[in-house]
Amino acid sequence: MNDGPAIGENLAGGEAARLAAIARRVLPGGHFGNFSAEPIIREGRGGRVWDEAGREYIDYLIGSGPMLIGHAHPAVTAAVQAQVERGTTFFANSAPGVLLAEAIVAAIPCAEQVRFVSSGSEADLYAMRLARAARGRDKILKFEGGYHGMSDYGLMSLAPKRVANFPTAVPDSPGIPEAVRHEMLVAPFNDLETVSAMLREHADEIGGVIVEPCQRILPPAPGFLEGLRKITAELGIPLIFDEVVTGFRYAYGGAQEYYGVVPDICTLGKVCGGGFPLAAIAGKAEFMSLFDKEAVGEDRFLMQIGTLSGNPVASAAGLATMAVLREPGAYERLFATGRALMAGLSDLLHRHGFAAQVVGEPPMFDVVFADGPMRDYRDLQRGDKALAKRFNALLRERGILKGESKHYVALAHTEDDVKETCAAYASALERLRDGA
Ligand SMILES: Cc1ncc(COP(=O)(O)O)c(C=O)c1O
Repeated sequence: MNDGPAIGENLAGGEAARLAAIARRVLPGGHFGNFSAEPIIREGRGGRVWDEAGREYIDYLIGSGPMLIGHAHPAVTAAVQAQVERGTTFFANSAPGVLLAEAIVAAIPCAEQVRFVSSGSEADLYAMRLARAARGRDKILKFEGGYHGMSDYGLMSLAPKRVANFPTAVPDSPGIPEAVRHEMLVAPFNDLETVSAMLREHADEIGGVIVEPCQRILPPAPGFLEGLRKITAELGIPLIFDEVVTGFRYAYGGAQEYYGVVPDICTLGKVCGGGFPLAAIAGKAEFMSLFDKEAVGEDRFLMQIGTLSGNPVASAAGLATMAVLREPGAYERLFATGRALMAGLSDLLHRHGFAAQVVGEPPMFDVVFADGPMRDYRDLQRGDKALAKRFNALLRERGILKGESKHYVALAHTEDDVKETCAAYASALERLRDGA
């Protein structure tokens, strides 16, 4: 029996605590696995969220990235409401999904065709399978610290506690069959020489290469993506860009437009679902045709089915989000906000004497409490994590909500939000410097 508070009830302080107690009882760790159990978010509007205890935050978590145009945007809300009244899922084709696929093909340079799934993890799993099927080889090369979802393959050397010699993969979780480890090769991000040597040595075994074009907050070094594109093309190895984060965020055409390097296949998620569970595999028709039995025949056909794939409500939300992003000046504004925050934070870190730096691109960045070049996973590991954690906690006390290792900027953030955030940075850094 559910003896909890009614959904939508505005909870006073005591009730918020009761909800937290329920969460601790019925959820492992007291949370959904994504974020700490506190705060419990009640609602979001634009660039802000409010928790169940009534506290207001400027939101740089933005749902871990999907809410690029802000929470509860009126255009998205209207599109979703209109679709909900017509039905919420059909399994068969429906107009919003077909039109969203058309919009993705128009936007993303490598996208000639699109297959929808429900999460970025799934999209990455299928993209790797697609590459393996196309090339007829089993191994996938990924980069140490690269995030490609929670599949057995994705959870190889995402966050290894002990680093291994390249190209040995280190599983990030128990429960993954030992055999999977031997089907993954791991390379250092931004090290073209090492990855090129690995690709040449293992060319006959490799089905594909998967990379986040901007790995977590680490931008690609000049020439890295271009070099990766060149050598994979030369060896005939499919190149996958994981654009679950960067798609529609770095540019309307994603990181492949922003950095000017076009992969064979990409994965998309977060923004293109407008805050609903939708992700996609997109790519050149020669690869995507493997999802079409008529085109490639029984033997080469790659089976791929999902109950909610192309869901009309999620597609309507994605389409409405993309229309907002096509408005003139949208990306200029997003980047101006991000640049102002990065510059403000960087300036304050120096003024307060921290050995620290701001790393990333304007729509997505964070502070790393360490000096020296930041090019790969091992460099990021030099950052003082305890200090970063404390800084995040001090910011939260000051009404700034962000993820553990990222700021996500939203189009809904205003100049006043930037000013307020910089004031919070200043006060939090003062406390941090004084040993808080
Ligand atoms: C680069 C990247 N790929 C894949 C994923 C997995 O997406 P999802 O959480 O929708 O499964 C994420 C999630 O944050 C991601 O950042």
